Amino acid sequence: MIHSRNRRLRVNESIRSLVRENVLTTDDFVMPIFVMEGENMQEPIPSMPGIFRRSIDLTVKECKELFSLGVKAVNLYMKVSENLKDNTGKEAWNKNGLMQNTIKAIKDAVPGMVVMPDVALDPYSIYGHDGIIENGKILNDATNEALAKMSVSHAEAGADLVAPSDMMDGRVQVIREALEESGFTDVGIVSYAAKYASSFYGPFRSALDSAPKADVEIPKDKKTYQMDFHNSREALNEVFKDIDEGADVIMIKPGLPYLDIVSKVREAIDLPIAVYNVSGEYAMVKAAVQNGWLDNDKTIIENLTCFKRAGADMIFTYFAKEAAMILNK
Ligand code: PBG
Repeated sequence: MIHSRNRRLRVNESIRSLVRENVLTTDDFVMPIFVMEGENMQEPIPSMPGIFRRSIDLTVKECKELFSLGVKAVNLYMKVSENLKDNTGKEAWNKNGLMQNTIKAIKDAVPGMVVMPDVALDPYSIYGHDGIIENGKILNDATNEALAKMSVSHAEAGADLVAPSDMMDGRVQVIREALEESGFTDVGIVSYAAKYASSFYGPFRSALDSAPKADVEIPKDKKTYQMDFHNSREALNEVFKDIDEGADVIMIKPGLPYLDIVSKVREAIDLPIAVYNVSGEYAMVKAAVQNGWLDNDKTIIENLTCFKRAGADMIFTYFAKEAAMILNK
């Protein structure tokens, strides 16, 4: 005889909502945004249906719309002109660079928007790497100095948090010290602590034209700095180091195939955890939806809710705007 029946608590939506453990809201979202030079420009990214590169004016318009939908944070990426790229990435800390002007424009128009610029050299590198290259090798400490200059220039432009996505060793500490010395004690660091070398970044690299170059004598992938996807314990080692160095938020990336890592890190730390639902994860859903194989709205909400269930506090996702519209219905 069975007296215990789990289905009692699933009888109707009202009962299910009473016992619900995790709820998705627009407060959870960070929208990644691609910015390009020009005026009144908007270019679609073919492998990411519904996502565009926009000039600053249209980016500001988009940020106003996002904010009115309840999306209160954006993560910024620049499409850098080829003629501004070199091996040092020095355009990255140009006071009047595209990034710096974008940060200012967004903060002027939507002061409540949390602005998180990406900190990494790849969009500025002629080689498409996140570090400066010498004799075919990615230099760690020289890259950290560049990332620190870049971070300070973002803070000067008005960034709330900087988000280093490069995976050099020790960069959180070097960035933290540079921010302190420049008086930006309140500008926080969202550290990509456990970022894996992943094939799911493909659509992003085509959006920024930032993939490692194939025709020169340089590493063809990012495996000497980004993590090996076979590993799990190593993620905790990365996370603890970044916390010691002064990270304010810990990022796990990619997202959906890495929920085990999110959950494991959640058990281990009390700092806020961010997860990145990356471009390839977006592309997979959209491709299936376009084929009529998946339901768009339901799949988006399920995917994003699973990040909450795994233990994430915030979700970087290209679905942020669409999901906000679905949740606001
Ligand atoms: C590079 C960077 C990447 C992403 C964010 N920052 C790609 C990479 O590491 O090659 C990927 C984001 C995505 O795929 O959505 N610093």
